[in-house]
Amino acid sequence: MSIFANVDMAPGDPILGLTETYRADPRKEKVNLGVGIYVDDAGKVPVLEAVRRVGETLAHANAPSSYLPIDGLAAYNRETQKLVFGADSALLAAGRVATAQTIGGSGALRVGADLLKQVLGDKAHLAASKPTWGNHHAVFKAAGFKLSDYRYYDDASHGLDFAGMLEDLGKLEPGTVVLLHACCHNPTGVDPSAAQWQQIAALLKDRGLLPFVDMAYQGFDKDAVADATAVRVLADSGIPAFVVANSYSKSFSLYGERVGALSFVGADRGEAERLLSHIKTTIRTIYSSPATHGGKLVAGVLESPELHALWERELGAMRERIHAMRAAFVDKLAALGAPDFGFVNAQAGMFSYSGLSKAQVDRLREEYAIYALSSGRICVAALNTGNIDYVTRAVAAVCR
Ligand code: LMR
Repeated sequence: MSIFANVDMAPGDPILGLTETYRADPRKEKVNLGVGIYVDDAGKVPVLEAVRRVGETLAHANAPSSYLPIDGLAAYNRETQKLVFGADSALLAAGRVATAQTIGGSGALRVGADLLKQVLGDKAHLAASKPTWGNHHAVFKAAGFKLSDYRYYDDASHGLDFAGMLEDLGKLEPGTVVLLHACCHNPTGVDPSAAQWQQIAALLKDRGLLPFVDMAYQGFDKDAVADATAVRVLADSGIPAFVVANSYSKSFSLYGERVGALSFVGADRGEAERLLSHIKTTIRTIYSSPATHGGKLVAGVLESPELHALWERELGAMRERIHAMRAAFVDKLAALGAPDFGFVNAQAGMFSYSGLSKAQVDRLREEYAIYALSSGRICVAALNTGNIDYVTRAVAAVCR
């Protein structure tokens, strides 16, 4: 008998597993609104021109592929710090930030969670918004954290339950790690305002909580600077320490390159240096060092003023197309006599928490080959002029 004979079947991933089911669906007219991937109006994952130009230079350079340092490419980390914290950041000037290139944003979350578990031991406790990206729970649980929720989304208003959020955060034990979405909250698309971030930061500081900011969609709401408001507010709040995981999967359309970064902010330069040493020992035991190509692509774009500007324009175009699809989704559903979906226009980023029930989502998949998450989250960035009529007619039908 095999030693694995008693290993049972693990459940499929609610997001990536759904894409597997979608791929296997033989129906010709089908739409994947499940996973958070931006596609262009032709339904293709775009190759950004700024990225393509760096890629061409790299192809000609034909550089040997040695190992990167454990913490990744220096230029990548430098440019990441500027993008996340701001080129004029006082934290950066004071040497308070330790940054390492990671295997995607998920890798940053896991390395960060593992390191925090080493520091916090049995007290490791994560509070995440209700709802949050499902993998947040899975990653921190795998790292040995206890998990809890804080109120966040208000079903009735389709907006933020800000009072509930503050009340729940205010009850957490000092030292609790508080997972925050920097912008384009996944799955709801509902973000705090700048003024609300000030209040959140003040509360986190007063209560001795540790913010862990996940920034996977920088540039998909307003622009790369405005979308980093949460990080800038935390930096200015005087809070002694916080953590940021960021990802370029979406903003550079480099999903498969697994380009992310982890930044630990310490109270001073010495603390940041010590933190970096532990980030490196943590990475070494998981995947040793990150991958070269994606890191060079991102660094090459961000280091060049011309390509950086081109990238910001291309990011803006992706953002605009999503806004246009939100508006079309709302207008077409109104024209079809469906219940009011106007709130979708106010949501930020790739997703809409559509309010569709699990039963309606099941009908969309079974009857129309339209895939959405059972929570009702749909990826608006997967809508295009070729599928929007089909999708809105189907949504109207399941709402009837
Ligand atoms: C999503 O939420 O769909 C994306 O972040 C992709 C993923 O890894 O789940």
